[in-house]
Amino acid sequence: ESSKGMVVSTHPVASAVGLEILKKGGNAIDAAVAVNFALAVCHPAAGNIGGGGFLVYRDAKGQNFALDYREKAPLKGHRDMYLDEKGNIIPGKSFVGIFSAGVPGTVAGMVEMHRKFGKLAWSELVAPSIELAKNGVVLTEKEARGLNRNKADFIKENPGKSYLIKMDTVTWKMGEKLIQTDLAETLTRIAAKKLKGFYAGKTADLLVAEMERQGGLISKKDLRKYRAVWRQPITQAYKNYQIIGMPPPSSGGIALAQLMQMVEKYPLASWGAASDSTIQVMVEAERRVYADRAKWLGDPDFVKVPVSELMDPSYVGQRMKTMSFDHATPSKEVAAGDFPAYESPETTHYSIVDEEGNAVSITTTLNNSYGSKVFVGGAGFLLNDEMDDFSAKAGVPNLYGLIGTKANEIQPQKRMLSSMTPTIITENNQLKMVVGTPGGSTIITSVFQVVLNVLEMKMNMQQAVEFPRFHHQWLPEQTRFEPKRFSEDQFSRLKSKGYEFSPTTAIGLVEGILILPSGKRQGGADSRGDDTVSAY
Ligand code: GLY
Repeated sequence: ESSKGMVVSTHPVASAVGLEILKKGGNAIDAAVAVNFALAVCHPAAGNIGGGGFLVYRDAKGQNFALDYREKAPLKGHRDMYLDEKGNIIPGKSFVGIFSAGVPGTVAGMVEMHRKFGKLAWSELVAPSIELAKNGVVLTEKEARGLNRNKADFIKENPGKSYLIKMDTVTWKMGEKLIQTDLAETLTRIAAKKLKGFYAGKTADLLVAEMERQGGLISKKDLRKYRAVWRQPITQAYKNYQIIGMPPPSSGGIALAQLMQMVEKYPLASWGAASDSTIQVMVEAERRVYADRAKWLGDPDFVKVPVSELMDPSYVGQRMKTMSFDHATPSKEVAAGDFPAYESPETTHYSIVDEEGNAVSITTTLNNSYGSKVFVGGAGFLLNDEMDDFSAKAGVPNLYGLIGTKANEIQPQKRMLSSMTPTIITENNQLKMVVGTPGGSTIITSVFQVVLNVLEMKMNMQQAVEFPRFHHQWLPEQTRFEPKRFSEDQFSRLKSKGYEFSPTTAIGLVEGILILPSGKRQGGADSRGDDTVSAY
């Protein structure tokens, strides 16, 4: 707990960098920019300059904003780019290698949020990360393990380069320093020239040269055209609370708004977080919401997303009418809703609150762990594999098992649909919580569970983050769960009602800040990762 500023991120060094900026008089946005660049150095699996993300921001006066810096399909991208001549998906092409990269948005996002809200000088926010890249970051056990696990892909996708790679027989160890000289130079160009340090000049030359070497699609024109976009946040009332979330091209805000509405009428608090009834209601709501996601959600600049229809209380209420406490609703009986008017792990999150009460909720990603695994030669940063978040073929699951249709098919310059759910919650118009997580398709349901753990189950922020999670996404039929989530008795009872289960390793890495009635900030950093609260 602390009384002034707080930063919660997935790496102790990044959290410390953010805290230093707050202590220097920077605001939450300044700290967010500094944390982003620090994560790009010390958490290369997901922290990035070669990916994209979303900001949900509430300033201390109570105004809400949402910034979209999601990657885009290259101009040369097209609907069938991941299909063979028979129309079948070419395995892996959309999620490993240069062809899987979308046009990066992160640097444009950082520049834009700083232009609108930043207080400290831009170069001051990038400087700590230049030092980290130049002098090295000490590897945690988890970071070393992640690098070693991905070594074979790094070698295969980076012929002639040695970024993050050790010789075949040599592995990274906890406590060793990771030095990234080329990345330090790229960050120096970004510090000096902002957008032009990445989307033009030497960095752009190196990126396009890498595309040409490996047959990738991103061009200078793609880089020149990229812009971050301010969008209208999704807001949804839940009891005395207001949930503020990310609109399309993320599905997170709408999905969380639907989920919260669907469960509102049930007495979850008196049933308890671990009860059969609470689990049944949450799984059935999730099943229905992911069916809508598959059919309706995509980039609003390309498809008409029926936002108000999907969140309409009578529609949402009617969706749960088919739910029964006697048995699971088979997913094949749950279709997406119909609106006749329409034709129709690895990501990372950080939460920041500053002394004034400005609140930042940012989820950012390369998609898969270490993205495409391709480093831009000479520039030292990883490219995303975000193209896999498009629906490469209607009805065929992507890396996360998510199904998509026309709304999320590939088109040049379109943004791929996301599940990222950076969220801010107010109570009676006062800041209450800042929360989010990585986890692909499980992002939405992890945020949903942590929010309910606090608002309904009255857990503190750390308990809410730690509580074992489960996840349902309409298809496949199974509910995924963390090992400690269900007792054997509970399994038997729920299985007898038709629920199917599959165990999984950790679901999500949630970073939350709760504002206590005293005004104190209470942090929750997920022990599933290296996640750390830094505060003063
Ligand atoms: N790449 C994960 C997501 O955006 O949902």
